[in-house]
Amino acid sequence: SLDIVRTKADLRARVRYWRDQGLNVAFVPTMGALHEGHLTLVRAGLEMADRVVASVFVNPTQFGPNEDFSRYPRQEEQDSALLAGAGCHLLYAPSVEEMYPPGFATTISVGGVSEGLCGDVRPGHFDGVATVVTKLLLQAQPHVALFGEKDWQQLAVIRRLVRDLDVPVDVAGVPTVREADGLAKSSRNAYLSASERAIAPVLYQVLNHIAEGLRQGGVAADLCAQGRARILEAGFISVDYLEARGADGLEPLERLDRPARILVAARLAGARLIDNLAVEPA
Ligand code: PAJ
Repeated sequence: SLDIVRTKADLRARVRYWRDQGLNVAFVPTMGALHEGHLTLVRAGLEMADRVVASVFVNPTQFGPNEDFSRYPRQEEQDSALLAGAGCHLLYAPSVEEMYPPGFATTISVGGVSEGLCGDVRPGHFDGVATVVTKLLLQAQPHVALFGEKDWQQLAVIRRLVRDLDVPVDVAGVPTVREADGLAKSSRNAYLSASERAIAPVLYQVLNHIAEGLRQGGVAADLCAQGRARILEAGFISVDYLEARGADGLEPLERLDRPARILVAARLAGARLIDNLAVEPA
């Protein structure tokens, strides 16, 4: 079975022991409720390093006051069994008090790529993510940290902060793992009713349709307006955003004149879903 540590001191001791033996360490931060997407990050970590550490921490500071922090699924026994099965070597599962002791007063705020998209809809979210990821990287001190492309803007924020703060770690992005019908795997899919689950794949269909339109020379704003209508017709309550951006800097774009990413966030009654898709000029 998998070893679990709950303090940064124990985590550091374990990683230092491996590093002293010349072993490379990969790190996979998560909020638990693990699925095939998370386990793919662990397997990718095993390809890149000798040891893989995963963390499970439902980080309160990245949830807004009316978001799902209290109902976010918590299932440590199942998570640790899944991690063990995937070949993970260590689970770090700190308490909120271990991460944010009394007096905690520092926030990491990344400019540029944090603005717009989820940054507009979820004020403070990326500050919470940037702060906890910085802490986790400094606590674990891995050689490489792996993040999913499913959260493309989050990945951009993390790449930016690692560069800007000279954090000595390689950041690796891993392609999105999907259900057979195209829906991106997410812990939040558990919130969906059967009828919502049936309409959720429209997000991926719309992303692909916009990608095709852009490749044929279409205008991003027009394609996205059509896509928005199709998502609402399918039964989503609202579309937070549906936009084409430059793949790396996330700057707005009009046509496919550089590598791009189409990003979407939309709400069903039970859950807010996000997804994104790469599209390259021919
Ligand atoms: P969480 O949503 O648990 O996701 C943990 C990691 O798994 C993230 O890097 C995310 O992009 C990746 N992931 C989730 N679903 C995926 C999928 N279908 N395919 C590929 N990768 C997927 O993202 C967070 O937690 C938190 O914000 C965290 C970075 C841990 C900071 O609290």
